[in-house]
Amino acid sequence: MELNQVKAVITGGVSGLGLAVARHIVAAGGAVALLDVNDDKGAAAVAELGTKAHYFRTDVTSEEAVVANLKAASEALGGLNAAISCAGILGAGRVLGKEAPMPLKTFATTVMVNLVGSFNVAKGAADLMQHNAPGEDGERGVIVNTASIAAFEGQIGQAAYSASKGGVVAMTLPMAREFARIGVRVMTVAPGVFHTPMVEGMPENVYQSLCAQVPYPSRLGKPEEFAATVAFILQNRYLNGETIRVDGAIRLQPK
Ligand SMILES: NC(=O)c1ccc[n+]([C@@H]2O[C@H](COP(=O)([O-])OP(=O)(O)OC[C@H]3O[C@@H](n4cnc5c(N)ncnc54)[C@H](O)[C@@H]3O)[C@@H](O)[C@H]2O)c1
Repeated sequence: MELNQVKAVITGGVSGLGLAVARHIVAAGGAVALLDVNDDKGAAAVAELGTKAHYFRTDVTSEEAVVANLKAASEALGGLNAAISCAGILGAGRVLGKEAPMPLKTFATTVMVNLVGSFNVAKGAADLMQHNAPGEDGERGVIVNTASIAAFEGQIGQAAYSASKGGVVAMTLPMAREFARIGVRVMTVAPGVFHTPMVEGMPENVYQSLCAQVPYPSRLGKPEEFAATVAFILQNRYLNGETIRVDGAIRLQPK
């Protein structure tokens, strides 16, 4: 799909990696609807991106809200052919914390936002996309999820986060297989460590140590590098059912 034809919903689209994707698509002539729960950042993103961008306050864990706002987004964009899930939370914490074991709610909330939320958006988007007119190769749409390299080598304190991201990786192939019938591709990106608001609160020594752990280039990823990967996925129809690591060859250590 050409980027200037893209009509995309982007969850988590008002910040970090999702906002970088929105900027990339709009700069290439496409249109975006940002689904997020941060109204202030939503307003700022729309003000920056202009008339090709819309914001719909949406909690990705709500089935009703996602169905309603995917429909609203599709109406605002004049169709929907891409859904990119970037909404996510860290849910950090040891299983056996200093004070007490991790509350089950911490684990469940992390899985709910990162995994169930991505599923919720993918199924709702595919439900709309199946009615699109088929393009070349019968293509009707593309779904891109965001996992993490913590899906593969989660650190101490990442049991909940890794479980949620591992689920995102695992559902990629079965969804791609199922949606082949309707011409909808499903791909996942597993970022390494990127410079976004999610990592900005980090102490300087932790930040420097993270940079040093990246073999090449020895720095954090730039959100535009994530966005360029998503754009490549949207454009390359032969990419389907796979997870791409974008990580400068880092392999996370136990801690
Ligand atoms: N930054 C990194 O280094 C990194 C590495 C690997 C994976 N990731 C993943 O990339 C994605 C984007 O991360 P980021 O660094 O841009 O973070 P970010 O915090 O800048 O953006 C995440 C966005 O998700 C939104 N969000 C949170 N819960 C939501 C909900 N229930 N419904 C709707 N929106 C919700 C937040 O409001 C925020 O705007 C996340 O899934 C994250 O796990 C990030």
